[in-house]
Amino acid sequence: MVGTGPRSLAPLLDGWRTAGEPAFRSLAARVRLLAVDGRLASGSRLPAERELAAALGVSRTTVSAAYAQLRVSGHLESTRGSGSVVRLPPAPGGRGRAPVVLDLTRAVLPCAPQVHAAAVRAAAELPARAAAGSGYDLVGLPELRELVAARYTARGLPTRADEVLVTPGAQAAIGLLARTLTSPGDRVLVESPTYPHALDALRAVGARPVAVPVRAPGARDAGGWDEEALEGAFARTRPSLAHLMPSFHNPTGAVMPPGQRRAVVELARRYGTRLVVDETTAELAIDGPAPGPFPADAVHVGSVAKTLWGGLRIGWVRADARTVRHLAQHRSPWELGTAVLDQLVVAHALPELDDVLATRREQLRAGRDALLGLLAAHLPGWGLPRVAGGFCAWVELGSESSSALVTAARRRGLHLTAGPRFGLDGAFERFLRVPYGYGTGVLERAVPVLAEAWAEVRTDGADGAGGLDGAGGPGQPGDVV
Ligand SMILES: Cc1ncc(COP(=O)(O)O)c(C=O)c1O
Repeated sequence: MVGTGPRSLAPLLDGWRTAGEPAFRSLAARVRLLAVDGRLASGSRLPAERELAAALGVSRTTVSAAYAQLRVSGHLESTRGSGSVVRLPPAPGGRGRAPVVLDLTRAVLPCAPQVHAAAVRAAAELPARAAAGSGYDLVGLPELRELVAARYTARGLPTRADEVLVTPGAQAAIGLLARTLTSPGDRVLVESPTYPHALDALRAVGARPVAVPVRAPGARDAGGWDEEALEGAFARTRPSLAHLMPSFHNPTGAVMPPGQRRAVVELARRYGTRLVVDETTAELAIDGPAPGPFPADAVHVGSVAKTLWGGLRIGWVRADARTVRHLAQHRSPWELGTAVLDQLVVAHALPELDDVLATRREQLRAGRDALLGLLAAHLPGWGLPRVAGGFCAWVELGSESSSALVTAARRRGLHLTAGPRFGLDGAFERFLRVPYGYGTGVLERAVPVLAEAWAEVRTDGADGAGGLDGAGGPGQPGDVV
């Protein structure tokens, strides 16, 4: 059984209080959300009441009442002598877990068919590569660095191979940048909502996030980044690093216009901030041409996870050559390089990326149109975004019910990620991320289930904060991409 001490629990509980609600109820709601999300694995032991009360600066009665509520909802089991253990309650009407029918927690696309042929060619090359060296390599294969650099150059951002560092996925790149470019206690600017694992990586190195709002483009509203809020956040907190997703922001789909990109570069220059632009989804345009890369002044993060396949685990950092050398020197002890075979596969597949992207455009268009059509038909009260690219829709529910809805959907075998997973402090109970890269068949099955779950949530009058009472399906740690 894994013990979760008050110190490791504290970052997960950051911002747990909900204004206007009794503290014990907010605390219980946050622990339930962590359990349902899989961030607190079933079987984790929670700290003793007195310890947690001291860590949170609340009375022991508050923690006792929260634990009592969790025991009633089936999310906590307490035994004298062995403490309180997180549980996921069984589905009603049957013991054990609800069968997993549809898992939409991951915003992914199927593996591009070009990957298989590339893997065959890469495997044929492997013996010669293996004979030539140890395979430990901190910057990446020269030919892959060349190819990645050439793609930036072709997209309008001249780049040399020594300005590229290959990593095991964009997430590893974000982790490396977080460790290398920030110190514990530094302010870092993030978007709200944001990509949860970027936030996790920044928090893991002790950075203190400052949020700037991003809104999904809607029917009457262009959405995007609030310029005043950006300026205010830079000026007030002088962040050491900013993590932005300017091209098909995950989860809102917003795209930052060129003028605002220049303004952000200027703000970063003025306040000494390293801009990290995460362009993992930048080439997933549906309606028009893909936005060009962010200006050169930023550190760019890229990946093949959403173009070729997530299972390849290949991403990169594009930065000036000095920063690339600095990052390479600081990779160990966390990682000692990137798998050579995966790099070879990507090197063989990248020349076909334009064909891959043409197919992605069709897949994503079909998925988006199907999803928005189905949602409009089955859930007419929801606010639907205008999505021109990327792989998910950030829908507005009209009430603070996202966690309750996700729990009700899980009981029916439909797994989604609740809005608060994308916020800093339990915000976004009014929102739900729905990925559409799974194909229309899956969406046609999923949306009626979602509508049924919604009907239950509305009938129960659940309001999100207490709405996780009742059964939740299993969450897998780290189950959102
Ligand atoms: C915006 C963003 N950044 C980073 C990642 C992680 O990418 P990778 O699978 O290459 O680590 C994802 C994956 O969903 C993402 O959406």
